[in-house]
Amino acid sequence: MPMVIAIDGPAASGKGTLAKRLADHYGLPHLDTGLLYRAVALTLIDAGAALDDEAAASRAAASLIADRLADPRLRERAMGEAASRISGIPAVRAALLAWQQRFAGTPDGAVLDGRDIGTVICPDARVKLFITASAEERARRRHRELTGRGEAVSLAAILADIQARDARDASRSAAPLKAAADAVVLDTTELDADEAFAAARAVVDRARTQ
Ligand code: DC
Repeated sequence: MPMVIAIDGPAASGKGTLAKRLADHYGLPHLDTGLLYRAVALTLIDAGAALDDEAAASRAAASLIADRLADPRLRERAMGEAASRISGIPAVRAALLAWQQRFAGTPDGAVLDGRDIGTVICPDARVKLFITASAEERARRRHRELTGRGEAVSLAAILADIQARDARDASRSAAPLKAAADAVVLDTTELDADEAFAAARAVVDRARTQ
């Protein structure tokens, strides 16, 4: 049976790092689905279109090509915010659904991380993890990451971003951010990356022997 591992959680929860490590460990392909939404937002920005232009956003999502996912601008702070805005458009989500399900359908399985993987994209995933941490701790981690890459930004601004994104991602009507009923919730506020990885591996290994 293919090993699909669904990892969801709010912005800067560490789910991306964890997903990558699990994928390496189990030899599975990994898709950071936030990149898809970021790429749609970047396509609109590059075209000079407004982020609330639903028709342009749906077209961008429907014609998204994998090459776009390597653009380093996708990782910038403003792109997370822009992605969160376009991600509430149902036609965008519908266009990206098939893309993600195709990825998850590879024979051995896959690791996908995002907001709605366990609830909408892969409801039958063998393992579902919901990674969370306090907003303050997530802001500290994101601040370290961005300043490490040379982006000059204050911790307070990042905390405000994270709180606004949490509120928007959790309150939208199309596939809101929430833990699937059968997800294992892992709060990493007090865990470092190695401890979080060990805890996640324990969940996956348990599922593999069942
Ligand atoms: O994980 P991230 O920060 O790269 O995601 C950016 C935004 O994209 C996030 O705020 C909401 C949206 N997103 C989504 O709606 N569903 C996903 N599966 C992944 C991301």
